[in-house]
Amino acid sequence: MDGVTVIDHPLVQHKLTLMRRKETSTASFRRLLREISTLLCYEVTRDLDLTTMVIDTPMEQMESPILEGKKMVFASILRAGNGLLEGMLDLVPAARVAHIGMYRDHDTLEPVEYYFKAPEDLENRLIIVVDPMLATANSATAALQRLKDRGARNIRFLCLLATPEGIRRFRDAHPDIPIFTASIDRELNEKGYIMPGLGDAGDRMYGTK
Ligand code: PRP
Ligand code: URA
Repeated sequence: MDGVTVIDHPLVQHKLTLMRRKETSTASFRRLLREISTLLCYEVTRDLDLTTMVIDTPMEQMESPILEGKKMVFASILRAGNGLLEGMLDLVPAARVAHIGMYRDHDTLEPVEYYFKAPEDLENRLIIVVDPMLATANSATAALQRLKDRGARNIRFLCLLATPEGIRRFRDAHPDIPIFTASIDRELNEKGYIMPGLGDAGDRMYGTK
């Protein structure tokens, strides 16, 4: 699918299978999500531009590669986005963080925003928006519009599971934003859940219902 990268690394796929199982405990689900997020972070950042700096090793001076540009921003769509955020920060501890509080109204499936806090200067930074689930794509499209309204221009979206319907809606609304996902599942059901999916990601992470 145009603009969509499926991260099919064997470790990602193995851990995702464990996460999907209904027997997986809250503690295991959270641990697996953190582990998988470091692997996803590795893939979503694999083409970042590098520059060089001159350093002294204990042996001699050399010109050595470092990331180019301003520190990137990880934007987490709460609550479940935080499960991906933690592992991403393990790999990129200097990243700035934005939090977008949003939940789906269970009847309308429309997102309700309850919190927004982002670094001031989004214009010149790469923003990686994280949320494990892209179902109807209502939450993601609203969160991305919010970031664009605040000046964000260079954005990537990272999730664990996406639906074909959600990807179509996302691409219609934000054709400029690439999607990275570990799986494109079969479909969205009539209640807005991903099938076969893994259930409600936030509830499984935090042991709520
Ligand atoms: C889940 C998920 C996404 C959203 C996806 O959040 O984490 O944000 O649903 O669905 P959509 O693509 O149809 O908008 P939820 O609303 O359950 O909130 P939570 O993370 O606080 O549990
Ligand atoms: N949000 C979830 O957490 N799970 C789904 O299947 C759909 C939306």
